[in-house]
Amino acid sequence: MSTAQNSAEKGDFAKTVLMPGDPLRSKFVAETYFTDARLVNDVRGIQGYTGTYKGVPISVMASGMGMPSMGIYSYELYNFYDVENIIRIGTAGAISPKLKLRDIVAGIGASTNSSYTSNQFALKGHLAPTADFHLLETAVNVARELGVEMAVGNLYSTDHFYDASSAAFEWGKLGSLAVEMEAAALYTNALQAGRRALAICTISDHLVTGEELDALTRQTAFTQMMEIALETAILL
Ligand code: HPA
Repeated sequence: MSTAQNSAEKGDFAKTVLMPGDPLRSKFVAETYFTDARLVNDVRGIQGYTGTYKGVPISVMASGMGMPSMGIYSYELYNFYDVENIIRIGTAGAISPKLKLRDIVAGIGASTNSSYTSNQFALKGHLAPTADFHLLETAVNVARELGVEMAVGNLYSTDHFYDASSAAFEWGKLGSLAVEMEAAALYTNALQAGRRALAICTISDHLVTGEELDALTRQTAFTQMMEIALETAILL
C-alpha cells in the first residue's frame, strides 16, 4: 500500500512520528539521532525515515509548510499508516513579549484563521483544536528533567506568513503566545482520527522586536526541541 503522496508501505512507520516542516531537518534528525535509519518516503522530497532511538522504533517525516500540506501528510499517517502519535517539531514567531528567541513553546491549543478546521465538518460552531494531554504532560515532564524551560499555551496557526493585517497581535491579545502555520491542521486531524498530537516550536523570530535567529543559533536551539520530542517519544 502506498498513496499518491507517500511511497511507504503499511508498517514502514513507527507508532510515533516526529514532524519538522523542513525535509532537510527530517534528514538531520534521522542522521543525528537514529540507529539504522532507512528512508521510507521521498515523494516530492518529503523525506521520511524510520529507525530506532535508544532502542525504540521511531519515525521522522517532514510536513511541508502550511495547513494544506500538514493536513495531507498527517491525515495519511493516522488513517492509512496507523500512526498513533505525531509530534510537530517546528518554528514559530513570538507574539508574546514574554518570549525570547530560542525559547520553546508547546501548543496546548491552536487557534486558526484557516478553513481547514471549520469548513470541512458540518459543525454548528467552532472546534477548539487541542493537543493530546498525555503527550503534552509527558513532554512537559521531559523538558523539566532536561532542565529546559518550555512555555505552554495557545499557538495561532495562520495561512498568511506575509500578513497584510495585524491579526497575529489581535490573537496575542487573546493569549496566543506564538504564530506558526501547521498545528491547527495537525490537532484537527488527530481529533478526527482519535489519535494523539502535540506541536512543539522553537521561536525563530519575534514579531514584537523584529529579531530573527541566525542560521547557526537556529541549529543549536532546535537541538533542544528535538531532544524533548525524542525523549517524549520513547515514553509513549
Ligand atoms: N509567522 C508564521 N509562521 C512562522 C513564523 C512567523 O513569523 N515564524 C516561523 N513560522
